Amino acid sequence: MASFPLEPIEKASVDELRSLQFKRLKSSLQHAYRNAPAYRRKFDSAGVHPDDLKSLADLRRFPFTTKADLRENYPFGMFAVPRERCVRIHASSGTTGKPTVVGYTHNDIEMWSHVMARSIRAAGARPGELVHVSYGYGLFTGGLGAHYGAEKLGLTVVPFGGGQTERQVQLIHDFRPDIIMVTPSYALAIADEFERQGLDPRECSLRLGIFGAEPWTNDMRQKIQQRLAIDAVDIYGLSEVIGPGVANECVETKDGPTIWEDHFYPEIVDPETGEPLPDGEFGELVFTTLTKEALPVIRYRTRDLTRLLPGTARTMRRMEKITGRSDDMMIVRGVNVFPTQIEELILKQPVLAPHYQCILTREGPLDHLTVAVEAGAGLPPEHDDVRSAADRLAHEIKVYIGTTARIDVRPSGGIERSMGKAKRVVDQRRL
Ligand code: DLL
Repeated sequence: MASFPLEPIEKASVDELRSLQFKRLKSSLQHAYRNAPAYRRKFDSAGVHPDDLKSLADLRRFPFTTKADLRENYPFGMFAVPRERCVRIHASSGTTGKPTVVGYTHNDIEMWSHVMARSIRAAGARPGELVHVSYGYGLFTGGLGAHYGAEKLGLTVVPFGGGQTERQVQLIHDFRPDIIMVTPSYALAIADEFERQGLDPRECSLRLGIFGAEPWTNDMRQKIQQRLAIDAVDIYGLSEVIGPGVANECVETKDGPTIWEDHFYPEIVDPETGEPLPDGEFGELVFTTLTKEALPVIRYRTRDLTRLLPGTARTMRRMEKITGRSDDMMIVRGVNVFPTQIEELILKQPVLAPHYQCILTREGPLDHLTVAVEAGAGLPPEHDDVRSAADRLAHEIKVYIGTTARIDVRPSGGIERSMGKAKRVVDQRRL
């Protein structure tokens, strides 16, 4: 594996990396200021100019960009090139209001394919291998992002997309892919379908999975690795920044995604005050693109919560696995709860299946959290072992998270399967 050559920048010194970042950051700020009126207005009203950037640390003087900026300038108003120079548009639907629209020039698609190829290689894939892509194709960036990167690396791509789980299993069985790219929750649904068809998922040809687009814990990694007998590696990204391939875990360490810092400059800020925090401290991840043409983003607030860690397998910094999005944080009677915390505790109970949802309701003045979870394959919810696992889960949620939860154990298939990103929080308080 080590014999496969890295790009020089992946093993450059930190000094070399910082000087490249500074040069690129300066030109990205200039590009945004000169060519995107929305950025010019934002910089002017904050009283900053790209010339004020004398070092990387000066980035903190520039204003943040948020989803609201993109919405206000819907659909193409934040673009820094004429729409005609874009070769591709993607959009994310979001839960409310207008979609967030992003555009790519030819060079942007090249850069994206490049960081995706680098990601897939870091995950352990090699040219000539066969990859089954189950991320959705279309406006979502998952499918096409994976596709272009895999082709660039020299893999054979099966562009399946999401859905039709029965057929996914049939093609995986018949084509014998080495690699699957899919959300972790849908990977489990595919493993279930293998079993339903009387096939052992551990016996299938897959050896590697590149999973992302939603939060998943290290315990979930263990579970997926066991069920499919594969290496499970984390891929992170968001459409506003480029799509998948902003960061990817290296298979030899599996210690959190390495951020491709030569293209995406990360910061962690205090989610309340916006103050930048030092590496190692938890907060909200913020990205500035260094090489993007159509839609440069300057200090984009991702709402994802994590911390920056020093590089291990590469010079570039890592991010710890995402704890959750600030939007997904539940506040139950004053206690902050993330679905990933619930996930960790569910996975400690072997007779419960890792399909779950957190349902919030209001009864009178009080919030209630119900954790709906499936009984493990073949066991009815009323089975003694399942009931005592549910009691243990409620107890552990109380002890480790500090909130009371009811556990609603459902039979196999009782939690709706998503073909892409799983919906972990169902908030019925506002209905
Ligand atoms: O989900 C891009 C993507 C596709 C990433 C395929 C990885 C694989 P969006 O639809 O714009 O883009 O959603 C971005 O998804 O801000 C995170 O909240 C979440 N997310 C993405 N990857 C991870 C991950 C794609 N590895 C939003 N872990 C982000 C946790 C993730 N959350």
